[in-house]
Amino acid sequence: MNPRTALVTGGTGGIGTAIVRYLARQGHRVATNYRDAAKADAWRAAMATEGIDVCMVPGDVADPASAESMVRAVEKDCGPVDILVNNAGITRDTTFHKMDYQQWSEVVNTNLNACFNVTRPVIEGMRARKWGRIVQISSINGQKGQYGQANYAAAKAGMHGFTISLAQENAKFGITVNTVSPGYVGTDMVMAVPEEVREKIVAQIPIGRLGRPEEIAHAVAFFTTDEASWITGANLAINGGHYMGW
Ligand code: CAA
Repeated sequence: MNPRTALVTGGTGGIGTAIVRYLARQGHRVATNYRDAAKADAWRAAMATEGIDVCMVPGDVADPASAESMVRAVEKDCGPVDILVNNAGITRDTTFHKMDYQQWSEVVNTNLNACFNVTRPVIEGMRARKWGRIVQISSINGQKGQYGQANYAAAKAGMHGFTISLAQENAKFGITVNTVSPGYVGTDMVMAVPEEVREKIVAQIPIGRLGRPEEIAHAVAFFTTDEASWITGANLAINGGHYMGW
């Protein structure tokens, strides 16, 4: 395995932390962004106790200027970004007839527009170096829709449209672009769903439990390997059998 610099957006979150840990244990230099310095310090210290030194830079992926300066800071501190995982995401769940523009736009900006904001400053370097791995963290709910998530499902479905276009444009440059679509994983985001609603959702999962963050990280890491060089434009659903498309 060639050690590379990997930028994982939203690396301090539930799935993000597992991706950072997995890529770091494979020998990559891993960077992530933060918005809250106190939270970031505590998280970085916890990772250090596991022997993982994460390169941390301030940055809001929803803001184009902030995302660009975040990428430049990572390049300066850790080297050119060869692996990008667009993982940062939020929910603002409510039924559409009650949804306001802020709930719509916060989710679309953070989950979908961030793919432009972060990938745009990274892509030219990858093309010049003729190697790159880009992974979008989408969602089962981008594939099947979800009551209460018109904003989130639209953004997550859009992420895969981004993947399959970018995959075509950059295939000749040694860059693969793929999507991972997690189902319901036991993170703070999913635990914020009211318990009685969550129990009904878990009852629909054939494997019979929520996913574990490391089960998502494993798939992300697979796409970033040298050996995965002929896989591009794919979507890998990891959801305990909750939604079986093909
Ligand atoms: N199908 C049909 N009806 C449903 C439904 C469903 N899936 N879910 C809720 N309802 C019904 C309820 O039974 C209730 O019916 P009654 O009024 O007849 O009792 C009604 O909808 C409630 O509607 P409201 O307009 O009052 O809904 P609300 O404003 O209270 O919002 C909600 C409810 C926010 C949608 C809540 O049900 C909820 O949190 N649902 C879960 C959403 C979800 O799955 N979010 C995923 C978060 S995790 C994540 O996003 C990670 C990932 O990628 C998987």
